Amino acid sequence: MPPGLTAIGSNSLKTCQLLINSSTRFKNTLTFNRFTTSAAVRMTSRPRVLVTRSDLPPSALQILSEKCELDIAPNDYPIERDQLLKKVVGIDALYCMITEKVDGEVLDAAGPQLKVISTMSVGYDHLDINEIKKRNIAVGNTPGVLTAATAELTVALTLATSRRIVEAHQEIANGGWAKCGWSPLWMCGSGLVGSNIGIVGLGRIGLAVAKRLKPFDISKILYTGKNAKVEGSDIGAEFVSFDQLLRQSDIIIVTCSLNEETRNLFDSAAFAAMKSNAILINTGRGGIVDQEALATALKTGQIAAAGLDVMTPEPLPVDHELTKLKNCVLLPHIGSATIQTRTTMATMAARNIISALEGTVMPARVC
Ligand code: DGY
Repeated sequence: MPPGLTAIGSNSLKTCQLLINSSTRFKNTLTFNRFTTSAAVRMTSRPRVLVTRSDLPPSALQILSEKCELDIAPNDYPIERDQLLKKVVGIDALYCMITEKVDGEVLDAAGPQLKVISTMSVGYDHLDINEIKKRNIAVGNTPGVLTAATAELTVALTLATSRRIVEAHQEIANGGWAKCGWSPLWMCGSGLVGSNIGIVGLGRIGLAVAKRLKPFDISKILYTGKNAKVEGSDIGAEFVSFDQLLRQSDIIIVTCSLNEETRNLFDSAAFAAMKSNAILINTGRGGIVDQEALATALKTGQIAAAGLDVMTPEPLPVDHELTKLKNCVLLPHIGSATIQTRTTMATMAARNIISALEGTVMPARVC
């Protein structure tokens, strides 16, 4: 039995009561059928679903277990690639996270019966959509339900970076404060009042961030993207080119998705165009920023600071140079991390699978 699951009762073709014994707050007891032999699997008509980790909110597993046979990967960390390749064989549905790269190799290993892939995320850059489309597999994601949580975190990261909150906290513990006491210019950052905020990608999250920042008495909201948006005019934001946004913004907030057009959008040329007091905030995807170029820009004072909730790779190695820079605030990809939001995302991802398997309308379908 995997470490995260304790079986009470016997195994093959019997209903087991499983105690979801993860290290999270989501402790609960569930009942569902668990088949342990491939012969057993062939005897059932219930669809087989692979869930790529064990520490999901039980409400999501409950939804799935009512109609499907679940194979829950045993760990509360991302499934290893070789395990994924083994476990996908013969499944009807895959319930995955942003940590699983689902490409042609995984799809080939799974086989032609795979009907749906549901990711517990709004972003789906970890899924090879072209390969998936070729095989007519449905894809579900979780848009909308994480907008508020991610926008709140983006505002928090913006303030933490502009007002040097993490560094200031450390100054108490490392004795810095004890040495200098209250000092006129010590730990000064920059305020939001009168600043130009530039948003890259005024989608759901970008818009929610813009609305939350307006009451800080900022000067302007600029945004860039493919097209001007009605929602942008509604909040008095100005649509500008990427270059104008770089040159005019005091704070640039990246909330767009990662694709071939946005990969490494923030390269050395972009940093060179930014103001020297500028702050870069990224809660989109790490791949949108060329991290080497960012580190150089932060070290040389080309820009003032950066706040990143997303980076490359994730997790970032503990000794990565960005972890050593005082003007770089790093968070471990926690944009959507509220209990309520993650629970809703998890159940929505489960419902996407059930709907796709039953042939009804999925709550959120990518393709
Ligand atoms: C997403 O959903 O894409 C976030 O990055 C994780 O919540």
